[in-house]
Amino acid sequence: MRTVEWHEGKVRMIDQRALPWDIVLVEFRDYTEVAQSISEMIVRGAPAIGAAAAFGMVLAARQFDATNRQELLRYLEEAGNLLVNARPTAVNLKWAVNRMLQAAANEALFRVEDIRNEMLRVAKRIANQDVKTNRQMGVYGAALIRSGDRILHHCNTGALATVDWGTALGVIKTAHQQGKHIQVLLTETRPRMQGARLSAWELNGAGIPYHIITDSAAGHFMRKGEVDLILVGSDRTAANGDVANKIGTYSLAVLARENGIPFYAVVPTSTIDLSVEDGSKIPIEERTPDEIRNPYGMRLVPEHFPVKNPAFDVTPYRYITGIITEQGIAYPPYDVTLPMVVEGSLNSELGDVTEPEPDEPEQLSLLDEIDPFDGL
Ligand code: MRU
Repeated sequence: MRTVEWHEGKVRMIDQRALPWDIVLVEFRDYTEVAQSISEMIVRGAPAIGAAAAFGMVLAARQFDATNRQELLRYLEEAGNLLVNARPTAVNLKWAVNRMLQAAANEALFRVEDIRNEMLRVAKRIANQDVKTNRQMGVYGAALIRSGDRILHHCNTGALATVDWGTALGVIKTAHQQGKHIQVLLTETRPRMQGARLSAWELNGAGIPYHIITDSAAGHFMRKGEVDLILVGSDRTAANGDVANKIGTYSLAVLARENGIPFYAVVPTSTIDLSVEDGSKIPIEERTPDEIRNPYGMRLVPEHFPVKNPAFDVTPYRYITGIITEQGIAYPPYDVTLPMVVEGSLNSELGDVTEPEPDEPEQLSLLDEIDPFDGL
């Protein structure tokens, strides 16, 4: 099954808090519960929460007993605000909710029932498009991987962080499917342990060799020459190429530069926010101190010990070798190449997205031809 999907009038998702021990499915009929599932990280990962929010909007449209179009649109605005604010950093929430509001506001739809049907169609399309996008990024990204490579990966960017397949982990899975022999180092990713719990679970299932390492061991392996490539995801990428991603990404990027290791972010266009000039303007989510004091109910630290717990950090563009997107691989100068990427995506949105097949890219984007080191 998919990480998040529409199932018999409800939003069904895998409860990621229970992994890797149990596979628990949860279903919601109420959009406020979907918003809560996002803040509590039952569902997590930028593209997955975007899809969850889109289906949440469908629930909202069905929940409200609107007598006319205007009433429904007002209610949807409110529902959208709640969903967007469930987690502040990943722009996919805003992206998906805006698409749903646009679909609802289509003036050709008069009856409330027609708006509801159209919203369900668009939410399913967002989910299908995510899978297709990931497959495409997988093909572009895997071209960078040689057999024998040792790849370091942070957090979880796999099927669980998306509707299916994954972004950075999707690239790794694609290279493995192509028969390349790769080894993966997974940072455990404190404090929520997405690397140790979720990425390891996915790579186990895919039969890809890996080791879990503590976050603080990454520099050690880089210095020993045991890392050939680093792949990470993104929760929001600013117009200048700064990447907000799971806390610890910035340190990995700086260490990568010090050790001469290529560092790529795998970023669907839904995660690029051209309205944000640079990473300093990206809101960074501060999560509860309990995640550090009492991880998974285990009391490590007394309640009165002060804690800071930012969930994300910003990696400046100058540390990023390239940004792998479904349109091709963008290289610096990102303020030139990222708008090209987003433009391409807007044009291709008109295409039909029903069967998420792993299709070969017809041709590599022009973006590939830009010198990767120009502007560094
Ligand atoms: O706090 P999380 O687990 O939602 O953070 C997830 C990440 O940081 C991922 O790297 C990011 O969402 C991109 S995944 C496709």
